[in-house]
Amino acid sequence: MLRIINVVGARPNFMKIAPVIDEMRRRPARIQSLLVHTGQHYDESMSDSFFEDLQIPRPDINLEIGSGSHSEQTARIMIAFERVLLEHPADWVVVVGDVNSTMAATIVAAKMNVRITHVEAGLRSRDRTMPEEINRVVTDSLADLLLAPSRDAVENLLREGVALEKIRFVGNVMIDTLFRNLEQARGSRILERLKLQPGKFCAMTMHRPSNVDDKETLSGILDALETLGERLPIVFPVHPRTRDRLEQFGLGERVRRQVSLVLTEPLGYLDFLHLYSNSRLVLTDSGGIQEETTVLGIPCLTLRENTERPITVTEGTNKLVGNNPESILQTALAALDHFAYGDARPARVPELWDGHAAVRIVDALEQASPK
Ligand code: UD1
Repeated sequence: MLRIINVVGARPNFMKIAPVIDEMRRRPARIQSLLVHTGQHYDESMSDSFFEDLQIPRPDINLEIGSGSHSEQTARIMIAFERVLLEHPADWVVVVGDVNSTMAATIVAAKMNVRITHVEAGLRSRDRTMPEEINRVVTDSLADLLLAPSRDAVENLLREGVALEKIRFVGNVMIDTLFRNLEQARGSRILERLKLQPGKFCAMTMHRPSNVDDKETLSGILDALETLGERLPIVFPVHPRTRDRLEQFGLGERVRRQVSLVLTEPLGYLDFLHLYSNSRLVLTDSGGIQEETTVLGIPCLTLRENTERPITVTEGTNKLVGNNPESILQTALAALDHFAYGDARPARVPELWDGHAAVRIVDALEQASPK
């Protein structure tokens, strides 16, 4: 019997672990799994609603770490997770994505000689000012089994000297979750609630420190949104970090007064899926949304200078626009002129983004386990 501890912490982890847990539960004679939530994200809208929407089992253990500086958060997770591993001996710790919880759990497991599987290994933005890049590099350097979502990720790992036998190309597990929930998301009432018509609005998300932690940058992005809003309303579910910064910089009143900005709390998975899949254009600085829009063929502008997911640009609908207001605006207007709604560039769905990554992930784990 394989004893596996799955670790999640923040919003983008939940949609990656859901199909993996499901698949593990299909193999009860061989796999016994525990779910640990670090509590990095704790708001109803950032955490609980995802467990409900995605029917993820309630975590067996919640470390209730909460917010803090990077070092505080990482250290608190390490202290608490070490106790978990002492009390619950495991053959594998499975971590997903690139958040602080991913790296913290990995360091603890490595020091306790517990084997580590990293789901979504090998992504690199090559931008070390990005906290997630540090988390990716550290996690991949310690992991024993590296499960890559794309071939470029495999190449990154090989270039860094990771042994080929530790790497498997399994595809993108977020897309499993996307396909499983498309039908159910059609039942969402979010368009009615926000009084929106399919194809007649843009969807926007933004929370990266590089966009929201500097007043001038944030205010420049708002300038671009103001002009773009003259063409189409922009729906903007506001991440807690962004909300805090807007208030701190005295920009809260400005966004609330802007009629073309439809502000909401962060949305649950199904509501957000229904929202962006009916939007004309997506603007984002998220990682996962670049992938989801690629699969659905929705034009996406990424407000970053680089991406760890280059395949969404080379094969998908993604364009990097940075955070210069003029370049955001011009590219957004060009996209609106170029793509009619429902007529986006037919997305070439990247290899193995096929809805079956979780099976390959759990197969790889079983194959890599000593008999
Ligand atoms: C984290 C991840 C990022 C991911 C993002 C998705 C890291 C380094 N970053 O960034 O990769 O894209 O989650 O949301 O792990 N807060 C709340 N309620 C919550 C969670 C956070 O109010 O439930 C507020 C707190 O004020 C906190 C701030 O948001 O200080 C930032 O949260 P944190 O988890 O540190 O990082 P994110 O910016 O959310």
